[in-house]
Amino acid sequence: MARKNTLRIALPVETLSRPDGKRALAQAADILRSGGTVAFPTETVYGLGANAFDASAVEEIFIAKQRPHWDPLIVHVADAAMLERVAVHVSARAQQLMNAFWPGPLTLLLPRQDAIPSIVTAGRPLVAVRMPAHPVARALIVAAGVPVAAPSANRFGHTSPTTAQHVLDDLEGRIDLVLDSGAAWCGVESTVVEVRDGSVILYRSGAIASAEIEAIAGPVSIYQSLQACVGKGRVEPESLPSPGVEIRHYAPRAHLIAFDFEDAPEEQQQQYWLQTVAKYHGRARLGVMQPNGWPLAEGFAGIRFDWGTWGDDRQLAQNLFAGLRALDSGGAEVILCPLPTAAGMGAAIRDRLLKAARDS
Ligand code: TXA
Ligand code: MG
Repeated sequence: MARKNTLRIALPVETLSRPDGKRALAQAADILRSGGTVAFPTETVYGLGANAFDASAVEEIFIAKQRPHWDPLIVHVADAAMLERVAVHVSARAQQLMNAFWPGPLTLLLPRQDAIPSIVTAGRPLVAVRMPAHPVARALIVAAGVPVAAPSANRFGHTSPTTAQHVLDDLEGRIDLVLDSGAAWCGVESTVVEVRDGSVILYRSGAIASAEIEAIAGPVSIYQSLQACVGKGRVEPESLPSPGVEIRHYAPRAHLIAFDFEDAPEEQQQQYWLQTVAKYHGRARLGVMQPNGWPLAEGFAGIRFDWGTWGDDRQLAQNLFAGLRALDSGGAEVILCPLPTAAGMGAAIRDRLLKAARDS
């Protein structure tokens, strides 16, 4: 692709209603309306946006990310009127979920309006929609006056971005603008669900825990991929109901090894961690995602990222992608990382780490 001149404009939330903030927003909205690409903060991670009604603008996202066309995009809306231009119908239970979690990190699959070009949904009848909670994301969509299709603003398959710098590290010269509003809040992406007659199907765990969804809309079935059912049989992502769920994703450049302690007490986990780090130490340039206060071998010569308090899944989620990126840029060849338990946001952290640690 021809190299673009990528602008970076600071837009702290508190400047949104000031003249400089309004100017930045108007410039970003102009770029979106004229078919360009704008990376912007959301409460989960940074997204790379384009006008969802404009197929050639959306194509620019696929080119910039080097994303295969079989992987559809989430459409971001600012209000109910905009939702009507994207989805033809919202069931009563989907509406309950929206009432409970919107604006916020929940993505719903809904029957799409014809105005949404097929590149957005990869030719599927359902479109993924969410209403973000981040004030900059909301203000941008309102200013543009169109729904914004946006995947995470990273090269396809790479670790998601939680800061504007992460976006530039992956996409500088490939997009028109990044709005810099500091770190994204949650650090993991939205939860992706489809409401069916019988139950809610969860395709991607995320910033809203399945128990929270269950409390509003009844039983949640976690999508079991064909791959998990048939063992090692290879499944083409195109054939899956939500194609992004099955593939290697979120991956740092280093080889990531994730460790499961299951329900062992924390002292045992720490002991096992100490032994594991010692085992790999010296074999390769080692990076560790280090929980606060956990032991590390004396004379440890690798690179350490202070991940956060073990058990505080919000904090661990917030720092997860930043940690993987920091260890990568510090030159780690192998990254060791403990896996939190699957309760609450731990499920989303595990999902990201297990996908990032896959071979393919
Ligand atoms: O938090 C988030 O959701 C972030 C921010 C930017 O909003 N976005 C994000 O988008 O994570 P992306 O493209 O990185 O992940 C979207 C996931 C993919 O796994 C994709 O396959 C699935 O949602 N998806 C999107 N549209 C779909 C559709 N029509 N049917 C089934 N799955 C869909
Ligand atoms: Mg992504």
